[in-house]
Amino acid sequence: MVKLIRCLYGSLKSLPARMDHYSRFSPSPLSIQQFLDFGTSNSCILTSMILFLLSVLYLKTLQDLLEFTDQKPVPVNTDRFTDSLQKIRDRHANVVETMAQGVIEMRDTHGIDPNKEGNLQYFLDRFFMSRISIRMLINQHTLVFGNNVQTHPRYIGSIDPNCDVESVILDAFDSAKYLCDQYYLASPEMEITTHNAVNDNDIQIVYVPSHLYHMLFELFKNAMRAVVEYHGTASLDYPPIQVKVVIGKHDLTIKVTDSGGGIPRHQIDLLFNYMYSTAPVPPKPGSTTTAPLAGYGYGLPISRLYARYFHGDLQLTSMEGDGTDAIVYLKVMSREANELLPIFNYATSQQYKRTICTGDWSSPAPQQFAAANGPGHMNRDSLVTKTA
Ligand SMILES: Nc1ncnc2c1ncn2[C@@H]1O[C@H](COP(=O)(O)OP(=O)(O)OP(=O)(O)O)[C@@H](O)[C@H]1O
Ligand SMILES: [Mg+2]
Repeated sequence: MVKLIRCLYGSLKSLPARMDHYSRFSPSPLSIQQFLDFGTSNSCILTSMILFLLSVLYLKTLQDLLEFTDQKPVPVNTDRFTDSLQKIRDRHANVVETMAQGVIEMRDTHGIDPNKEGNLQYFLDRFFMSRISIRMLINQHTLVFGNNVQTHPRYIGSIDPNCDVESVILDAFDSAKYLCDQYYLASPEMEITTHNAVNDNDIQIVYVPSHLYHMLFELFKNAMRAVVEYHGTASLDYPPIQVKVVIGKHDLTIKVTDSGGGIPRHQIDLLFNYMYSTAPVPPKPGSTTTAPLAGYGYGLPISRLYARYFHGDLQLTSMEGDGTDAIVYLKVMSREANELLPIFNYATSQQYKRTICTGDWSSPAPQQFAAANGPGHMNRDSLVTKTA
Protein backbone atom coordinates (compact mmCIF):
# COMPACT_ATOMS: atom_id res chain seq x y z
CA MET A 1 0.00 0.00 0.00
CA VAL A 2 2.78 2.38 1.02
CA LYS A 3 4.53 1.47 -2.21
CA LEU A 4 1.40 2.30 -4.21
CA ILE A 5 0.97 5.70 -2.49
CA ARG A 6 4.65 6.52 -3.10
CA CYS A 7 4.28 5.54 -6.71
CA LEU A 8 1.13 7.69 -7.14
CA TYR A 9 2.78 10.62 -5.37
CA GLY A 10 5.84 10.26 -7.59
CA SER A 11 3.78 10.29 -10.77
CA LEU A 12 1.76 13.34 -9.61
CA LYS A 13 4.92 15.23 -8.66
CA SER A 14 6.45 14.76 -12.06
CA LEU A 15 3.21 15.63 -13.88
CA PRO A 16 3.81 19.40 -14.26
CA ALA A 17 7.25 18.74 -15.76
CA ARG A 18 5.86 16.16 -18.14
CA MET A 19 2.98 18.46 -19.07
CA ASP A 20 5.51 21.19 -19.80
CA HIS A 21 7.46 18.74 -21.96
CA TYR A 22 4.41 17.67 -23.98
CA SER A 23 3.04 21.21 -24.31
CA ARG A 24 6.10 22.10 -26.40
CA PHE A 25 5.01 19.77 -29.19
CA SER A 26 3.25 21.26 -32.19
CA PRO A 27 0.34 19.35 -33.68
CA SER A 28 0.79 17.98 -37.20
CA PRO A 29 -2.18 18.58 -39.47
CA LEU A 30 -3.59 15.70 -41.54
CA SER A 31 -5.77 15.84 -44.62
CA ILE A 32 -9.00 13.85 -44.98
CA GLN A 33 -7.12 11.75 -47.55
CA GLN A 34 -4.47 10.89 -44.94
CA PHE A 35 -7.15 9.97 -42.42
CA LEU A 36 -8.64 7.67 -45.07
CA ASP A 37 -5.29 6.07 -45.94
CA PHE A 38 -4.55 5.61 -42.29
CA GLY A 39 -7.89 3.97 -41.59
CA THR A 40 -7.60 1.44 -44.42
CA SER A 41 -4.59 -0.19 -46.04
CA ASN A 42 -1.92 1.43 -43.89
CA SER A 43 -3.72 1.14 -40.60
CA CYS A 44 -1.34 0.33 -37.79
CA ILE A 45 -2.58 0.50 -34.25
CA LEU A 46 0.87 1.24 -32.85
CA THR A 47 1.61 4.17 -35.15
CA SER A 48 -1.80 5.60 -34.39
CA MET A 49 -1.22 5.14 -30.68
CA ILE A 50 2.28 6.55 -30.56
CA LEU A 51 2.38 9.16 -33.30
CA PHE A 52 -0.83 11.05 -32.89
CA LEU A 53 -2.60 10.37 -29.71
CA LEU A 54 -0.23 10.56 -26.81
CA SER A 55 -0.23 14.34 -26.70
CA VAL A 56 -3.92 14.72 -25.76
CA LEU A 57 -4.68 17.44 -23.23
CA TYR A 58 -6.15 17.92 -19.74
CA LEU A 59 -4.42 16.83 -16.60
CA LYS A 60 -6.25 13.63 -15.76
CA THR A 61 -6.38 12.67 -19.36
CA LEU A 62 -2.71 13.43 -19.77
CA GLN A 63 -1.95 11.29 -16.74
CA ASP A 64 -4.07 8.44 -18.10
CA LEU A 65 -2.21 8.60 -21.39
CA LEU A 66 1.29 8.97 -19.99
CA GLU A 67 0.84 5.58 -18.44
CA PHE A 68 1.21 4.13 -21.92
CA THR A 69 4.45 5.84 -22.96
CA ASP A 70 6.64 3.17 -21.30
CA GLN A 71 4.48 0.18 -22.07
CA LYS A 72 5.35 -2.61 -24.43
CA PRO A 73 3.35 -2.57 -27.66
CA VAL A 74 1.65 -5.88 -27.02
CA PRO A 75 -2.06 -6.47 -27.73
CA VAL A 76 -3.07 -6.33 -24.08
CA ASN A 77 -1.65 -2.79 -23.84
CA THR A 78 -2.93 -1.54 -27.18
CA ASP A 79 -6.40 -2.80 -26.22
CA ARG A 80 -6.20 -1.03 -22.88
CA PHE A 81 -5.07 2.12 -24.69
CA THR A 82 -8.09 2.01 -26.99
CA ASP A 83 -10.39 1.47 -23.97
CA SER A 84 -8.76 4.42 -22.23
CA LEU A 85 -9.39 6.63 -25.24
CA GLN A 86 -13.05 5.65 -25.22
CA LYS A 87 -13.31 6.67 -21.56
CA ILE A 88 -11.48 9.93 -22.26
CA ARG A 89 -13.88 10.75 -25.09
CA ASP A 90 -16.86 10.19 -22.80
CA ARG A 91 -15.26 12.15 -19.96
CA HIS A 92 -14.88 15.20 -22.20
CA ALA A 93 -18.31 14.92 -23.86
CA ASN A 94 -19.86 17.98 -22.14
CA VAL A 95 -16.88 20.32 -22.31
CA VAL A 96 -18.62 22.83 -24.61
CA GLU A 97 -21.64 23.26 -22.31
CA THR A 98 -19.42 23.34 -19.21
CA MET A 99 -17.18 25.97 -20.77
CA ALA A 100 -20.20 28.02 -21.87
CA GLN A 101 -21.65 27.91 -18.34
CA GLY A 102 -18.24 28.82 -16.91
CA VAL A 103 -17.92 31.87 -19.17
CA ILE A 104 -21.48 32.97 -18.26
CA GLU A 105 -20.67 32.64 -14.54
CA MET A 106 -17.40 34.52 -15.00
CA ARG A 107 -19.25 37.33 -16.79
CA ASP A 108 -21.98 37.48 -14.14
CA THR A 109 -19.54 37.47 -11.22
CA HIS A 110 -16.61 39.53 -12.47
CA GLY A 111 -17.87 41.15 -15.67
CA ILE A 112 -15.77 40.96 -18.82
CA ASP A 113 -13.40 43.80 -19.63
CA PRO A 114 -14.40 44.91 -23.16
CA ASN A 115 -10.69 45.39 -23.95
CA LYS A 116 -10.06 41.72 -23.15
CA GLU A 117 -13.06 40.32 -25.00
CA GLY A 118 -11.01 39.77 -28.16
CA ASN A 119 -8.54 37.69 -26.12
CA LEU A 120 -11.32 35.52 -24.75
CA GLN A 121 -12.70 35.04 -28.24
CA TYR A 122 -9.23 34.14 -29.50
CA PHE A 123 -8.66 31.65 -26.69
CA LEU A 124 -12.03 29.95 -27.10
CA ASP A 125 -11.65 29.62 -30.88
CA ARG A 126 -8.30 27.93 -30.42
CA PHE A 127 -9.44 25.80 -27.49
CA PHE A 128 -12.49 24.48 -29.34
CA MET A 129 -10.55 23.96 -32.57
CA SER A 130 -8.04 21.80 -30.65
CA ARG A 131 -10.94 19.90 -29.13
CA ILE A 132 -12.45 19.20 -32.55
CA SER A 133 -9.14 17.87 -33.81
CA ILE A 134 -8.40 15.74 -30.73
CA ARG A 135 -11.86 14.18 -30.84
CA MET A 136 -11.35 13.48 -34.53
CA LEU A 137 -8.12 11.59 -33.72
CA ILE A 138 -9.70 9.70 -30.84
CA ASN A 139 -12.72 8.77 -32.95
CA GLN A 140 -10.55 7.55 -35.81
CA HIS A 141 -8.47 5.40 -33.48
CA THR A 142 -11.34 3.92 -31.46
CA LEU A 143 -13.58 3.35 -34.47
CA VAL A 144 -10.87 1.79 -36.61
CA PHE A 145 -9.26 -0.32 -33.87
CA GLY A 146 -11.90 -0.60 -31.10
CA ASN A 147 -14.27 -3.50 -30.58
CA ASN A 148 -17.53 -1.56 -30.42
CA VAL A 149 -17.61 -0.45 -34.03
CA GLN A 150 -21.10 0.90 -34.64
CA THR A 151 -20.74 2.98 -37.77
CA HIS A 152 -21.83 2.14 -41.29
CA PRO A 153 -19.55 -0.50 -42.92
CA ARG A 154 -18.74 2.03 -45.66
CA TYR A 155 -17.24 4.47 -43.11
CA ILE A 156 -13.56 4.69 -42.38
CA GLY A 157 -13.59 5.68 -38.74
CA SER A 158 -15.89 8.67 -38.67
CA ILE A 159 -15.32 9.56 -42.34
CA ASP A 160 -17.83 8.61 -44.99
CA PRO A 161 -16.06 8.34 -48.37
CA ASN A 162 -19.47 8.77 -50.04
CA CYS A 163 -21.17 11.21 -47.71
CA ASP A 164 -24.65 11.81 -49.13
CA VAL A 165 -25.06 15.51 -48.48
CA GLU A 166 -28.81 15.63 -49.06
CA SER A 167 -29.55 12.92 -46.52
CA VAL A 168 -27.43 14.70 -43.87
CA ILE A 169 -29.40 17.89 -44.61
CA LEU A 170 -32.71 16.03 -44.18
CA ASP A 171 -31.56 14.48 -40.88
CA ALA A 172 -30.37 17.80 -39.47
CA PHE A 173 -33.58 19.51 -40.59
CA ASP A 174 -35.78 16.84 -38.95
CA SER A 175 -33.91 17.12 -35.63
CA ALA A 176 -34.10 20.94 -35.62
CA LYS A 177 -37.80 20.78 -36.56
CA TYR A 178 -38.47 18.39 -33.68
CA LEU A 179 -36.88 20.85 -31.23
CA CYS A 180 -38.65 23.84 -32.80
CA ASP A 181 -42.04 22.05 -32.56
CA GLN A 182 -41.36 21.26 -28.91
CA TYR A 183 -40.47 24.85 -28.14
CA TYR A 184 -43.00 26.82 -30.24
CA LEU A 185 -45.56 24.14 -31.20
CA ALA A 186 -44.91 25.32 -34.76
CA SER A 187 -42.15 25.17 -37.36
CA PRO A 188 -41.45 26.05 -41.00
CA GLU A 189 -40.94 23.47 -43.77
CA MET A 190 -37.92 23.22 -46.07
CA GLU A 191 -37.48 23.29 -49.85
CA ILE A 192 -34.26 21.87 -51.17
CA THR A 193 -32.65 22.17 -54.61
CA THR A 194 -29.42 20.50 -55.67
CA HIS A 195 -27.12 21.00 -58.61
CA ASN A 196 -24.13 18.89 -59.57
CA ALA A 197 -22.06 21.12 -61.85
CA VAL A 198 -19.50 18.35 -62.50
CA ASN A 199 -21.49 15.25 -63.46
CA ASP A 200 -24.99 13.76 -63.23
CA ASN A 201 -24.44 11.90 -59.96
CA ASP A 202 -25.99 12.60 -56.58
CA ILE A 203 -24.05 15.08 -54.48
CA GLN A 204 -21.47 13.18 -52.45
CA ILE A 205 -18.18 14.16 -50.83
CA VAL A 206 -15.58 12.54 -48.61
CA TYR A 207 -16.43 14.04 -45.24
CA VAL A 208 -17.25 13.47 -41.59
CA PRO A 209 -21.08 13.31 -41.63
CA SER A 210 -21.32 14.18 -37.91
CA HIS A 211 -19.46 17.47 -38.54
CA LEU A 212 -21.73 18.38 -41.44
CA TYR A 213 -24.77 17.42 -39.39
CA HIS A 214 -23.61 19.62 -36.51
CA MET A 215 -23.26 22.71 -38.74
CA LEU A 216 -26.60 22.22 -40.49
CA PHE A 217 -28.46 21.45 -37.28
CA GLU A 218 -27.23 24.75 -35.80
CA LEU A 219 -28.11 26.70 -38.94
CA PHE A 220 -31.60 25.16 -39.12
CA LYS A 221 -32.28 25.88 -35.44
CA ASN A 222 -31.30 29.52 -36.00
CA ALA A 223 -33.34 29.82 -39.20
CA MET A 224 -36.42 28.22 -37.63
CA ARG A 225 -36.26 30.38 -34.53
CA ALA A 226 -35.95 33.52 -36.70
CA VAL A 227 -38.88 32.51 -38.94
CA VAL A 228 -41.24 31.58 -36.11
CA GLU A 229 -40.41 34.65 -34.00
CA TYR A 230 -40.65 37.03 -36.97
CA HIS A 231 -43.97 35.71 -38.27
CA GLY A 232 -45.43 34.96 -34.83
CA THR A 233 -46.23 31.65 -33.19
CA ALA A 234 -49.89 31.97 -34.21
CA SER A 235 -49.07 31.97 -37.92
CA LEU A 236 -50.23 28.88 -39.77
CA ASP A 237 -48.25 29.48 -42.89
CA TYR A 238 -44.53 30.09 -42.51
CA PRO A 239 -42.36 30.76 -45.55
CA PRO A 240 -40.26 27.60 -46.04
CA ILE A 241 -36.52 27.55 -45.42
CA GLN A 242 -34.79 27.30 -48.80
CA VAL A 243 -31.71 25.13 -49.09
CA LYS A 244 -29.54 25.16 -52.18
CA VAL A 245 -26.70 22.68 -52.61
CA VAL A 246 -24.19 23.00 -55.43
CA ILE A 247 -21.08 20.95 -56.05
CA GLY A 248 -18.32 22.24 -58.32
CA LYS A 249 -14.80 21.00 -58.97
CA HIS A 250 -13.40 22.59 -55.82
CA ASP A 251 -16.22 23.59 -53.52
CA LEU A 252 -19.38 22.12 -52.18
CA THR A 253 -21.63 25.00 -51.19
CA ILE A 254 -24.75 24.75 -49.06
CA LYS A 255 -26.88 27.87 -48.71
CA VAL A 256 -29.62 28.00 -46.07
CA THR A 257 -31.98 30.91 -46.73
CA ASP A 258 -34.67 31.95 -44.31
CA SER A 259 -37.32 34.66 -44.35
CA GLY A 260 -36.94 35.32 -40.65
CA GLY A 261 -36.63 39.10 -40.79
CA GLY A 262 -32.83 39.21 -41.06
CA ILE A 263 -30.23 40.78 -38.79
CA PRO A 264 -29.38 44.49 -38.54
CA ARG A 265 -26.02 45.20 -40.20
CA HIS A 266 -24.46 46.60 -37.02
CA GLN A 267 -24.97 43.21 -35.34
CA ILE A 268 -23.40 41.11 -38.10
CA ASP A 269 -19.88 41.36 -36.62
CA LEU A 270 -21.16 40.03 -33.30
CA LEU A 271 -22.72 36.85 -34.63
CA PHE A 272 -19.57 34.75 -34.31
CA ASN A 273 -18.78 35.99 -30.81
CA TYR A 274 -19.12 33.36 -28.11
CA MET A 275 -21.92 34.41 -25.80
CA TYR A 276 -23.59 36.68 -28.35
CA SER A 277 -27.18 35.52 -28.28
CA THR A 278 -30.55 37.21 -28.42
CA ALA A 279 -32.16 34.17 -26.77
CA PRO A 280 -32.74 33.77 -23.03
CA VAL A 281 -29.91 32.01 -21.13
CA PRO A 282 -30.72 28.28 -21.20
CA PRO A 283 -31.12 26.24 -18.00
CA LYS A 284 -27.95 24.69 -16.54
CA PRO A 285 -26.92 21.40 -18.17
CA GLY A 286 -28.52 18.46 -16.38
CA SER A 287 -31.32 20.58 -14.86
CA THR A 288 -33.75 19.77 -17.67
CA THR A 289 -34.23 16.98 -20.16
CA THR A 290 -35.25 19.24 -23.06
CA ALA A 291 -32.40 20.61 -25.19
CA PRO A 292 -32.71 24.38 -25.73
CA LEU A 293 -33.39 25.70 -29.25
CA ALA A 294 -31.00 28.59 -28.69
CA GLY A 295 -29.26 30.40 -25.89
CA TYR A 296 -25.52 30.02 -25.40
CA GLY A 297 -24.45 31.91 -28.50
CA TYR A 298 -22.09 29.04 -29.37
CA GLY A 299 -24.00 27.66 -32.37
CA LEU A 300 -22.43 29.86 -35.05
CA PRO A 301 -18.83 30.15 -33.78
CA ILE A 302 -18.48 26.40 -33.19
CA SER A 303 -20.11 25.55 -36.52
CA ARG A 304 -17.66 27.85 -38.26
CA LEU A 305 -14.79 26.04 -36.56
CA TYR A 306 -16.12 22.72 -37.88
CA ALA A 307 -16.30 24.21 -41.39
CA ARG A 308 -12.79 25.68 -41.13
CA TYR A 309 -11.30 22.55 -39.58
CA PHE A 310 -10.96 20.98 -43.04
CA HIS A 311 -10.39 24.32 -44.79
CA GLY A 312 -14.00 25.16 -45.50
CA ASP A 313 -15.87 28.18 -44.17
CA LEU A 314 -19.20 29.44 -42.86
CA GLN A 315 -20.50 32.91 -43.67
CA LEU A 316 -23.69 34.83 -42.99
CA THR A 317 -25.24 37.62 -44.99
CA SER A 318 -28.51 39.22 -44.15
CA MET A 319 -31.09 41.77 -45.26
CA GLU A 320 -32.82 43.32 -42.32
CA GLY A 321 -36.57 43.21 -42.85
CA ASP A 322 -36.31 40.14 -45.07
CA GLY A 323 -34.08 37.23 -44.05
CA THR A 324 -30.68 35.63 -43.74
CA ASP A 325 -28.43 33.50 -45.93
CA ALA A 326 -26.05 31.16 -44.12
CA ILE A 327 -23.49 29.59 -46.45
CA VAL A 328 -21.31 26.56 -45.71
CA TYR A 329 -18.31 25.96 -47.98
CA LEU A 330 -16.54 22.60 -47.94
CA LYS A 331 -13.60 21.30 -49.95
CA VAL A 332 -14.57 18.72 -52.54
CA MET A 333 -11.10 17.19 -52.87
CA SER A 334 -10.10 15.22 -49.80
CA ARG A 335 -6.38 15.83 -50.33
CA GLU A 336 -7.05 19.59 -50.14
CA ALA A 337 -9.12 19.19 -46.99
CA ASN A 338 -6.28 19.55 -44.51
CA GLU A 339 -6.72 20.05 -40.83
CA LEU A 340 -6.39 23.63 -39.61
CA LEU A 341 -4.82 23.45 -36.17
CA PRO A 342 -3.93 26.11 -33.62
CA ILE A 343 -0.42 26.00 -32.20
CA PHE A 344 1.12 28.00 -29.40
CA ASN A 345 4.14 30.16 -30.16
CA TYR A 346 5.52 33.66 -29.68
CA ALA A 347 2.94 35.26 -32.00
CA THR A 348 0.15 33.59 -30.04
CA SER A 349 1.45 34.75 -26.68
CA GLN A 350 1.72 38.31 -28.02
CA GLN A 351 -1.91 38.09 -29.08
CA TYR A 352 -2.89 37.62 -25.42
CA LYS A 353 -0.80 40.60 -24.30
CA ARG A 354 -2.55 43.01 -26.62
CA THR A 355 -5.43 44.87 -25.13
CA ILE A 356 -7.00 47.48 -27.33
CA CYS A 357 -5.94 48.29 -30.88
CA THR A 358 -7.28 51.17 -32.85
CA GLY A 359 -8.51 50.78 -36.37
CA ASP A 360 -10.18 53.11 -38.82
CA TRP A 361 -12.82 52.62 -41.49
CA SER A 362 -10.35 51.28 -44.05
CA SER A 363 -8.60 48.82 -41.78
CA PRO A 364 -10.38 47.35 -38.76
CA ALA A 365 -8.40 46.80 -35.57
CA PRO A 366 -6.92 43.27 -35.46
CA GLN A 367 -9.08 42.27 -32.52
CA GLN A 368 -12.30 43.47 -34.07
CA PHE A 369 -11.26 41.76 -37.26
CA ALA A 370 -10.32 38.57 -35.43
CA ALA A 371 -13.58 38.57 -33.50
CA ALA A 372 -15.49 38.94 -36.73
CA ASN A 373 -13.46 36.50 -38.80
CA GLY A 374 -12.21 33.77 -36.49
CA PRO A 375 -8.88 32.01 -36.13
CA GLY A 376 -8.22 31.60 -39.84
CA HIS A 377 -7.85 35.37 -40.13
CA MET A 378 -6.23 36.12 -36.82
CA ASN A 379 -2.62 35.45 -37.18
CA ARG A 380 -1.37 32.98 -39.70
CA ASP A 381 1.79 32.43 -37.63
CA SER A 382 -0.21 30.92 -34.84
CA LEU A 383 -1.94 28.27 -36.89
CA VAL A 384 -0.60 25.12 -38.44
CA THR A 385 -1.92 24.63 -41.88
CA LYS A 386 -0.76 22.77 -44.94
CA THR A 387 -1.47 23.51 -48.55
CA ALA A 388 -1.93 20.56 -50.87
N1 LIG B 1 -30.92 33.03 -39.38
C1 LIG B 1 -30.89 33.97 -38.43
N2 LIG B 1 -31.80 34.99 -38.45
C2 LIG B 1 -31.78 35.95 -37.50
N3 LIG B 1 -30.89 36.01 -36.49
C3 LIG B 1 -29.97 35.03 -36.44
C4 LIG B 1 -29.91 33.97 -37.39
N4 LIG B 1 -28.87 33.17 -37.08
C5 LIG B 1 -28.32 33.69 -35.96
N5 LIG B 1 -28.96 34.81 -35.58
C6 LIG B 1 -28.64 35.66 -34.41
O1 LIG B 1 -27.33 35.34 -33.99
C7 LIG B 1 -27.32 34.99 -32.61
C8 LIG B 1 -26.21 34.00 -32.36
O2 LIG B 1 -26.51 32.74 -33.01
P1 LIG B 1 -25.86 31.41 -32.41
O3 LIG B 1 -26.42 30.26 -33.16
O4 LIG B 1 -24.39 31.56 -32.37
O5 LIG B 1 -26.37 31.37 -30.90
P2 LIG B 1 -27.86 31.12 -30.35
O6 LIG B 1 -28.71 30.56 -31.43
O7 LIG B 1 -28.35 32.38 -29.71
O8 LIG B 1 -27.57 30.03 -29.21
P3 LIG B 1 -27.03 28.53 -29.43
O9 LIG B 1 -25.70 28.47 -28.76
O10 LIG B 1 -28.02 27.66 -28.75
O11 LIG B 1 -26.94 28.30 -30.91
C9 LIG B 1 -28.74 34.47 -32.34
O12 LIG B 1 -29.09 34.60 -30.97
C10 LIG B 1 -29.56 35.39 -33.22
O13 LIG B 1 -29.79 36.65 -32.60
MG1 LIG C 1 -28.04 28.92 -32.53
